[in-house]
Amino acid sequence: MQDIINKIDSALNLDELEQIRLELFGKKGSITAEFNRLKDVEPENKKAYAQSLNIKRDTLTAKLNEKKLSLESEYIKSKMKSEAIDISLFNEPLSTGALHPVMETMDRIIEYFVAQNFSIETGPLIEDDFHNFEALNLPKYHPARDMQDTFYLKDFRLLRTHTSPVQVRTMLNQKPPIRMIAPGSVFRRDLDLTHTPMFHQVEGLVVEDGTKVSFANLKYILEDFLRYMFGDVKVRFRPSFFPFTEPSTEVDISCIFCSGCGCRVCKQTGWLEVLGSGVVDPNVFEAVGYKNVSGYAFGLGVERFAMLLHRIPDLRSLFEGDIRLLEQFK
Ligand code: PHE
Repeated sequence: MQDIINKIDSALNLDELEQIRLELFGKKGSITAEFNRLKDVEPENKKAYAQSLNIKRDTLTAKLNEKKLSLESEYIKSKMKSEAIDISLFNEPLSTGALHPVMETMDRIIEYFVAQNFSIETGPLIEDDFHNFEALNLPKYHPARDMQDTFYLKDFRLLRTHTSPVQVRTMLNQKPPIRMIAPGSVFRRDLDLTHTPMFHQVEGLVVEDGTKVSFANLKYILEDFLRYMFGDVKVRFRPSFFPFTEPSTEVDISCIFCSGCGCRVCKQTGWLEVLGSGVVDPNVFEAVGYKNVSGYAFGLGVERFAMLLHRIPDLRSLFEGDIRLLEQFK
């Protein structure tokens, strides 16, 4: 028996130990065989034989279990050692990105209008004269076309100068009521501190049958929206002109940098212009075949909002991809 115990003790791993267990207690195991022989032992010896056999079985089983536990704990220890991570080892931190300030601002604007039940509509960046100008009450040679320095392509196609053509496309495809915003990029031949040839707008359009929609609805939602974006600001509607709205207004907020006292950003006026809006001109409804409807529309520049919210002095820096600028928005 001692030699069996030695053998168990010298097992190097769990597989070897299992092999030994089978040799003893498996179907053809030696201890199993000894138990099988019990039936051939003379009755007078049976009891003693069985007793010593039971002791042998119990001793060996205990030994096997003990060895198993110790091999298992050795295995876990060696595994932990080989897989250990040295957390004291110095490493460069991984650098992660963040949403671009323009996209982050765009998301915030969209979030507001989606919560107000506006749908999100999109249109092509390469537009035609009809959708970008004509249907928006800007006939050819109309002087107001000069307001938007257009990139023209071949075959009367152009890069859209505003998101307003999405109003036209949506009205041509859907019937009122319409309650939509159109976020996206637009293009103009312009480059200075506050203009880049590509920038982003969010357009808004609400149309209902009859005379349900008025300037009051426009005023309400834009005031609410601007306070959502900029906090507790004063909102001012200033008469203006857009060919596609009548009346048209530009909307100002009290300067968020000087609270209206006058500073460099608001050019000492106390006000910041933030968007264009108005009641949809009947000529626009006529161009898309709408009758007996009323509506309002507005359009805003996302970069302008991002610049104001993050106090970015030069619009161009938003498109240079300078990691030092972008890292500040994590
Ligand atoms: N499309 C105008 C612009 O780009 C903004 C605007 C949209 C004004 C809708 C009024 C109504 O300046």
